Amino acid sequence: MSFLSATLDRVKPSPTIAMSTKAAELKAAGRDIISLSAGEPDFDTPQNIKDAAVAAIAAGKTKYTAPDGIPELKQAICDKFQRDNGLTYTPSQISVGTGGKQILYNALMATLNEGDEVVIPAPYWVSYPDMVLLAGGTPVIAEASIQTGFKLTPDQLEAAITDKTKWLIFNSPSNPTGAGYTWDELKALTDVLMRHPHVWIMSDDMYEHLVFDDFEFCSPAQVEPRLYDRTLTVNGVSKAYSMTGWRIGYAGGPAPLIGAMRKVQSQSTSNPCSISQWAAVEALNGPQDYLEDNKALFQRRRDLVVGMLNEASGVRCPTPDGAFYVYPSIAECIGKTSAKGTKITDDEAFATALLEETGIAVVFGAAFGLSPNFRISYATSDEALTDACTRIQTFCAGLT
Ligand SMILES: Cc1ncc(COP(=O)(O)O)c(C=O)c1O
Repeated sequence: MSFLSATLDRVKPSPTIAMSTKAAELKAAGRDIISLSAGEPDFDTPQNIKDAAVAAIAAGKTKYTAPDGIPELKQAICDKFQRDNGLTYTPSQISVGTGGKQILYNALMATLNEGDEVVIPAPYWVSYPDMVLLAGGTPVIAEASIQTGFKLTPDQLEAAITDKTKWLIFNSPSNPTGAGYTWDELKALTDVLMRHPHVWIMSDDMYEHLVFDDFEFCSPAQVEPRLYDRTLTVNGVSKAYSMTGWRIGYAGGPAPLIGAMRKVQSQSTSNPCSISQWAAVEALNGPQDYLEDNKALFQRRRDLVVGMLNEASGVRCPTPDGAFYVYPSIAECIGKTSAKGTKITDDEAFATALLEETGIAVVFGAAFGLSPNFRISYATSDEALTDACTRIQTFCAGLT
């Protein structure tokens, strides 16, 4: 009998981390590498937030806290939900965890029994299916297509739901596609859920503040208030405030669910870092103007990348509504051979050859459940993006 848990056999390590690691190794070996695989903003955490953390240390706020967050942060989160989303939560309906990732994981651990199904629209954030598996559930992948802008249709959702479905995991704007659901598109999905009262919705709103042009973000409980009692609204400070290393995520939802998540957390990590929690209070309560500045910056980069990728032979790159990713299709490149002789059998072969032959690290589509595509994170400088897209154009032009 294996010493390791059988559950782990069903779970794969994060492919995005694997790609970043491979790129870092090549860089350390002296290669000229541009990594477009990491999912984090390239700007620094704003100074007022850092100052709040330093002040928290100086004031001795360095001890254990309540398992799911200090009262000041829970109140700041309630205020944020009201201000930005028109959602009314009380502090007993709020959970703070070590990143949005832990919040999602706690919710799945707190609710899934063997045989329970979780509907996950593909392309999906790499961690959803594996978190469901770790929690003992069964991921049910509902594949969206490039024709619908990578968005799930109501019919697809209807078809994916069974008596065993416990959750729909919903993510808009999406990692990896940047696709955002409009109010009407989301309403059409919530209409389906209204017909299935046993299904709850876990809404991952992590990229809420990174939306472009005239796209307006909306969240399920806001669009369909009758779903409020079976919605977990998840968010965090990582992406909006460039605080990926601080590890603070949070959720609002029904108090019994929040209580169950607290139980999971109290027996695992105890509480999120006290200093990071004080920093997050400042992030949510302090000035918000840099959110607009960052939006403008990311929108400019999106336009740069989409424009250049659509000029690459065999690449088709839709224009995303938000986040900082693009998810181009490389259907026309499959079956070709690279200038250095690599057969492009699938998107993993494309990404591997691209890295080895041109030094550009991207993540292949199979990791996100929809092929043949790749994901670029454009959270890096204009110069690096221009250089990277030029190398991708050259690589694609060399495919025969
Ligand atoms: C869609 C999505 N949800 C959740 C997370 C987790 O964010 P964190 O744990 O840093 O708060 C990420 C991070 O990449 C993400 O892309």
